[in-house]
Amino acid sequence: MSTRNLSADSITGAVIQRMRRAKSARFKQVMGSLVKHLHDFARDVKLTEQEWEYAIDFLTRTGQKCDDKRQEFILLSDTLGLSTLITQMNHSSKDEETEQTVFGPFHRMKAPNFPLGANISKGVRGKPCFVSITVKTAEGKPMRNATVDVWHSDAEGYYDVQHKEWKGAHKMRGVFKPDSEGRVYFWTIVPLFYPVPTDGPVGELLKASARHPMRPAHIHFLVAAPGYDRLVTHVFDKNDKYLDSDAVFGVRSSLIREYKRQKQGTAPDGSTCKTPYWTVDYDFVMRPLPGKAKKKAVARKGSKTAKSGKQGE
Ligand code: BEZ
Ligand code: FE
Repeated sequence: MSTRNLSADSITGAVIQRMRRAKSARFKQVMGSLVKHLHDFARDVKLTEQEWEYAIDFLTRTGQKCDDKRQEFILLSDTLGLSTLITQMNHSSKDEETEQTVFGPFHRMKAPNFPLGANISKGVRGKPCFVSITVKTAEGKPMRNATVDVWHSDAEGYYDVQHKEWKGAHKMRGVFKPDSEGRVYFWTIVPLFYPVPTDGPVGELLKASARHPMRPAHIHFLVAAPGYDRLVTHVFDKNDKYLDSDAVFGVRSSLIREYKRQKQGTAPDGSTCKTPYWTVDYDFVMRPLPGKAKKKAVARKGSKTAKSGKQGE
């Protein structure tokens, strides 16, 4: 097919045809579909030249806003619901497995390791909160070899990286190893809802869409263990007013828990609290990776066969 004299209708097939020699079948499928949908979209809304120029400028500014601490493209994906769509397609959980949600831009590599029971928010003002979680398999086996990475906002809705005066110190974040019962527990402060960054093109988009930028209060968890799907999730505050209008569409009912106010006295870890404090719990259930699930099924079959004394068929 020639690339000459193409019309608004025939251009799509011509572009797709130019990719026909691409080596990867997956590349051809993804790019072919992208071109088709992009062209259909432009035809559908009869995109004007001014609108196209605006879009190019918007995307250019989105790229220019990115650096090693800020990822405006991910924020764009989050606020357009694309991140949640991808998460849901790639990590559909069975009933008992913990649901995943957006990763967000505030995770930091190399957060400090803490022993169980430590306070990850020393010196930060806020309501004291005892967080207690477990990490188990769907069969209820504790996962001692998991790594639990935690991070959250402070009582004013800011992450440590947003406090310039903290000069890069790690606060309200840390990494834990579960005990033999799969438990992880630590002290921190109750997080608050907060706006996603609005000083860039995404803020402009939210404003034009008459949308607020708020995320309901939550604690982030990244739980990893060999042979299991990496769990990227949050535990949301049941009493937050933004649960049904999260700017990044990340709330799942199964991830909502009450951050309960407790009277002063003996805390669950045996320490004495001279002021009221808050508690929140969650039991995470990890999803085995497909290979692992298959291996386990084979192992189960093998052990049944061995028990029944049957020889392999
Ligand atoms: C967050 O929860 O940290 C977050 C997620 C998506 C966009 C902005 C922030
Ligand atoms: Fe967050």
